[in-house]
Amino acid sequence: MVTAFAPGRVNLMGDHVDYLGGPVLPMAIDLGTTVRLQPGGEVVRLTSAEVAEAAEVALEVANPSGAQPAWARYVAGVVAELRPAVGGQGTVETTLPVGAGLSSSAALELAVALALGFAGPARELALLGQRAEQRATGVPCGVMDQLASAAGIAGSALLIDCATLSVTPVPIPDWLEVLVVHSGQPRALSATAYAERRAECEAATAIVGPLPRASLAEVEALADPTLRRRARHVVSECERVRAVAASRFDRSVLAEALTSSHASLRDNFEVSTPALDKLVSQLASQPGVVGARPTGAGFGGCVVALVVAGSAGRADVGDRRSWVVRASGGARLLPVS
Ligand code: GLA
Repeated sequence: MVTAFAPGRVNLMGDHVDYLGGPVLPMAIDLGTTVRLQPGGEVVRLTSAEVAEAAEVALEVANPSGAQPAWARYVAGVVAELRPAVGGQGTVETTLPVGAGLSSSAALELAVALALGFAGPARELALLGQRAEQRATGVPCGVMDQLASAAGIAGSALLIDCATLSVTPVPIPDWLEVLVVHSGQPRALSATAYAERRAECEAATAIVGPLPRASLAEVEALADPTLRRRARHVVSECERVRAVAASRFDRSVLAEALTSSHASLRDNFEVSTPALDKLVSQLASQPGVVGARPTGAGFGGCVVALVVAGSAGRADVGDRRSWVVRASGGARLLPVS
């Protein structure tokens, strides 16, 4: 029996910049997915406590996006990328909210890959997971979620340069706590909206060159107003990531970056929603809250609030689901118990 665990992630700063080679600042969290597998046979068959229907995937699966039920697509994506010689039977359990924007799919992909025998460096595991996700969903996602899950470090956020995939730990100071609150609006990461934003950024890149290295003056000269707004988000968001990481979570740098990141996701990138906006302003006005912003792709899902230690438990989140999360270690095989 093999047991593999992979954590979810929350992104503290730097959204919609990973697929352009920008810097991001996520952390792996203490919620995640465990796969227990008895190797053998020519199919991978997993049951889940969350979903009634099992995922059953043949080792030679050709079209992962067509697998049923929906969660089997991720298993199929991994099998198609890894092509293990032997399948297995087992179970999946998760402490992550599924489909909330905390990378439950990345955690599933990485735990399945490890259980099926992937053995290699974290960045190879992450790239395999990213390819599996793209094949499963058709969404041209970046590598942030999978790399945060693969390379997580207890107590630290991860400054990831998505151009080189270098990972630099940035310790979370003791005075800071991370609160994640679900907006109540299911995250609809429609393939279209995400792919459309990515395509707009690539159109801007074709004119001004790589956006993470462009200046605000360069992007303000873009003639097309939509491309200009999208590019303005990317350039300013990259600057915020660098500023927060360089300041090591200085409180005033962080407060300013959280506020301006939310405004930019709302006004320039147009991936916030009224439910996310409302939650951000409710959280931001509470005692001990340094600031809040939507986290991940947007279009619904969660807000991350950075708060003074001890305040998270007292925050008023109404009847919304919320989690106080800690920076945690990355995906790994667990010793046999
Ligand atoms: C999703 C994608 C990531 C990243 C974020 C936005 O989580 O999977 O690659 O693009 O959206 O930052």
